[in-house]
Amino acid sequence: MIEAHDVGKAFGDVKALDGVSVAVPKGTVLGLLGHNGAGKTTLVNVLTTLLPHDSGRASVAGFDVATHGHEVRSRIGLTGQFAAVDEQLSGTDNLVLIARLLGATPREARARAAELMELFDLADAAKRPSRTYSGGMRRRLDLAAGLVGRPDVIFLDEPTTGLDPSSRLSMWEIVEKLVSDGTTVLLTTQYLDEADRLADSITVLSAGRVVASGTSSELKAQVGQRSVTVTLATAADVPTAMRSLEQAGLQPVLDAEHNTLTAPVTASRELAVVVRALDEVGVEASELALGEPTLDDVYLTLAAHQAA
Ligand SMILES: Nc1ncnc2c1ncn2[C@@H]1O[C@H](COP(=O)(O)OP(=O)(O)OP(=O)(O)O)[C@@H](O)[C@H]1O
Ligand SMILES: [Mg+2]
Repeated sequence: MIEAHDVGKAFGDVKALDGVSVAVPKGTVLGLLGHNGAGKTTLVNVLTTLLPHDSGRASVAGFDVATHGHEVRSRIGLTGQFAAVDEQLSGTDNLVLIARLLGATPREARARAAELMELFDLADAAKRPSRTYSGGMRRRLDLAAGLVGRPDVIFLDEPTTGLDPSSRLSMWEIVEKLVSDGTTVLLTTQYLDEADRLADSITVLSAGRVVASGTSSELKAQVGQRSVTVTLATAADVPTAMRSLEQAGLQPVLDAEHNTLTAPVTASRELAVVVRALDEVGVEASELALGEPTLDDVYLTLAAHQAA
């Protein structure tokens, strides 16, 4: 349903997309992971025809985004990183307005709006101006707005950034329901746990390039289930510590700014391996931490593999 092949897009000297390819089968979710500036929004904008690309090919629902923008737009819903609802209008009126713009009769528009306000648990606030909605309610309204036209494909750009845990959960449940009804979803996120929960496959973008793609378990297998981070007391210890961890069979990655070494581990008992390795070379750690895999670990590990 969504295909990008070697898509490039530059803004002046910045290569926002540097040969990006993704493929999303019908009824599945692609999670696009990446830090600020990785190119996530740019890819969404290209695929939703908001932005022309410079090179490569992209199609949505079988239509080329460059040559068949109208066909693409009529089949997609877009929920942007920056909400697009009219603050003065009530939630219901926002949805009615969109439905009317899409060609519904007043009666159909009101019915669709009511249905969505119900689905998104906004019925109680239906008549209030949307500027009085909480962040989570705004985000749900924004998603509802993208669904008025019953799109086959939806694009969600950081749908839960800034939401509290319970609002995130309800957003996830809504997305899961849409997918079970056959909707195809591309969502961008900075959170591994979100991609983990929702995405059938994950593409990691970094500086406009795909640095990894696969299922969540494939990515985790790449980064190791967990990681150990050692903070060294002095920068002078870094080379010694690095070598001893490598000799112990770990693959430490240096963060020179913070004097930390992070290495993926498969079991918590490898924490002991780290302690012993440092002890043998007489290096003192000021802090030692065992962490769950985060997006940072994915990046750190991938960067290490690329450098190797
Ligand atoms: N209209 C623009 N003009 C100039 N540069 C741009 C423009 N849009 C994006 N960029 C640049 O392209 C790169 C990718 O930006 P993009 O917005 O796609 O990143 P992102 O992954 O969505 O980041 P975030 O997590 O902050 O939303 C960045 O370096 C950004 O500064
Ligand atoms: Mg963005």
